[in-house]
Amino acid sequence: MRTGGENCRHRRAVHARRAGLQNRCSPHLTRRAVMKIVIVGASGAIGRAVAELLGARHEIVPVGRSSGAHHADITDPASIAAALESIGRFDAIVVAAGDPHFGPLTDTSPAQFAAGLGGKLLGQINVALAALPWLADGGSITLTSGCLSEQPVRGGSNASVSNAGIDAFARSAAVDLPRGLRINAVSPTVLTESLPKYGDYLPGFDDAPAAKVARAYRRSIEAGETGQVYRVWS
Ligand SMILES: NC(=O)c1ccc[n+]([C@@H]2O[C@H](COP(=O)([O-])OP(=O)(O)OC[C@H]3O[C@@H](n4cnc5c(N)ncnc54)[C@H](OP(=O)(O)O)[C@@H]3O)[C@@H](O)[C@H]2O)c1
Repeated sequence: MRTGGENCRHRRAVHARRAGLQNRCSPHLTRRAVMKIVIVGASGAIGRAVAELLGARHEIVPVGRSSGAHHADITDPASIAAALESIGRFDAIVVAAGDPHFGPLTDTSPAQFAAGLGGKLLGQINVALAALPWLADGGSITLTSGCLSEQPVRGGSNASVSNAGIDAFARSAAVDLPRGLRINAVSPTVLTESLPKYGDYLPGFDDAPAAKVARAYRRSIEAGETGQVYRVWS
């Protein structure tokens, strides 16, 4: 049993030990600086969750085809260039947009297949290429693929190819990027919030809440890795 004075000395000793531990750790546990983060598709199911998570500590610049503070169509390189020029320098860019073609392969024309690749795979690559001159040294690009890359469903071959292409682009572009720039892809399963929209097309798939998916984008932007594909599915 400690006396009042001993209790007081004990509390001071615990406090000093904790302070010492924090001081010893602090050189390695630096807090992230506030970043300017562009989110293409910020009004969507994924984009909203990413903006909410990252907006707590960073400046978010929302971009959409018709929503957001700046407008761009990822299938139109000139519109992306114009939007990024009006935004200026930034530290990170997320692409959570892009529509592949869905439909039975036997009913799919070459033009439809090409348009699907343009809508998602090439659209996201358009943004990545356009972002390079605007990214600050050490900045990052985070693209969005999806589990169909390795978990096919009926009518989803165009999405599977688009997603696999995005993963391959992130892995390979990482080798080429200058100035410490980084690139990763997040590959989510169907969002819990998107089950009413996509649930019937992904029968028996595990879903993941948007808030969980958003953490993979935070990891891509803040943790320092490059050339990674963060699978939010098992
Ligand atoms: N939701 C899921 O369960 C899920 C799972 C795995 C992967 N993904 C992939 O994640 C990406 C985002 O999906 P989501 O469900 O979050 O989308 P969403 O809810 O339909 O929202 C799409 C967002 O992207 C913007 N957008 C759409 N087309 C665009 C274009 N051509 N150019 C610029 N912005 C465009 C929209 O803005 P405007 O409304 O202003 O056009 C909106 O902000 C898609 O590529 C999707 O394939 C989604």
